[in-house]
Amino acid sequence: MSKYRDSKWKKVMQELPYRQEPYSKKNWGNPNHSLCSYQGKLKPAIANFMVQTFVPKGGRILDPFSGVGTIPFEAALNGKESFGIDISPLAYYVSSAKVHACKSDACANVIAHLEEFIHGNQLSNEYIHDNSRFGYNKTLGEYYEPNTFFEILSARQFFLNNPPQTAEEFLVISSLLHVLHGNRPYALSRKSHPIVPYAPSGAFVYKSLIEKVTEKVKKSLSVKLPKKFIEGHIFLGDSTERWDDSINELDAIITSPPFYDSTKFYMANWIRLWFTGWNEDTFETEPNKYVDEKQKDSFDVYDSIFENARERLKTGGYFVMHLGKSDKCDMGEILRAKALRYFRKAKLYSEDVSACEKFGIVDLGSVSEHQYLVIE
Ligand SMILES: C[S@@+](CC[C@H](N)C(=O)[O-])C[C@H]1O[C@@H](n2cnc3c(N)ncnc32)[C@H](O)[C@@H]1O
Repeated sequence: MSKYRDSKWKKVMQELPYRQEPYSKKNWGNPNHSLCSYQGKLKPAIANFMVQTFVPKGGRILDPFSGVGTIPFEAALNGKESFGIDISPLAYYVSSAKVHACKSDACANVIAHLEEFIHGNQLSNEYIHDNSRFGYNKTLGEYYEPNTFFEILSARQFFLNNPPQTAEEFLVISSLLHVLHGNRPYALSRKSHPIVPYAPSGAFVYKSLIEKVTEKVKKSLSVKLPKKFIEGHIFLGDSTERWDDSINELDAIITSPPFYDSTKFYMANWIRLWFTGWNEDTFETEPNKYVDEKQKDSFDVYDSIFENARERLKTGGYFVMHLGKSDKCDMGEILRAKALRYFRKAKLYSEDVSACEKFGIVDLGSVSEHQYLVIE
């Protein structure tokens, strides 16, 4: 590791500045980091320190498990060219929205088309009935007032017919995904939770989808991007397969793969995944393609990631992984041993997080340490 970056990161690990003000504040960073709630989202301040330490000015960085884009977005905000890969359509939409600059008139156009579609749309009673009975902890019919649910079903159909491609389409669908459930007035659901769809409670009240989405889109558009912002590139795909050829000459790969002990991600996201098109069959088959599930059998799933990384990193580039250690699994040690088959050096740092909060509650879950594996 270059002496400069080595000592810079050592200092971060000793002082943990992201645990101190202003970085420790819940809302630190660009407000659009909160475009859509996502379980497993990294704290933007941690992403910031990793990006600032390991990516040189104007450098290129990839996150192969980019989730809702915290690392690419933080890189883009700091004038670095960012790439991201995620297998989840939900993560892909939200991260794509964050790394692009959107025009408000083009957003208004997308919303107008969506509104027109919803108002002209007809759905059979059978289709509505089948979908309203779908669900896991509770059914969709229990989350939504019937007219609101009709609008949600129509909007789902609209985006399945017209998969988002432009920055503005990504922003509109991400805003809609965000307002699907929550515990505040912005949410289309009955009272639930913004990240995990907790069992709903309270009255069934009609909420206009277009109104709620428009509010959320306006809020995002009102956030100014810094002059040095550089648009990024997000790919929907499996990062254990060969990466797109345009992902090359990287100064750094910075990523937080799924933790070994993480809960079933698809249950925490089920309403939003359903909205992107998942159905009963997809919920059975799709999770098996995710590293969350694959690594339960073997960490060999990371071999192809290290192979891709070695090929795409510049000489002197870094591969930094943010990991979780629990009583069941020391991810850092396992991946360190594996990384040394592909790279010269791999240094592991750890941070005790046994008393940290999750969802505003002291986390009694099994991850006791966060680990930073710095590979070169
Ligand atoms: C811990 S989350 C990353 C969160 C991210 N740092 C953020 O702040 O949003 C891990 C991500 O890995 C993704 N993932 C799982 N298996 C994958 C695969 N085979 N290829 C690409 N992404 C995958 C999941 O969809 C999830 O978004």
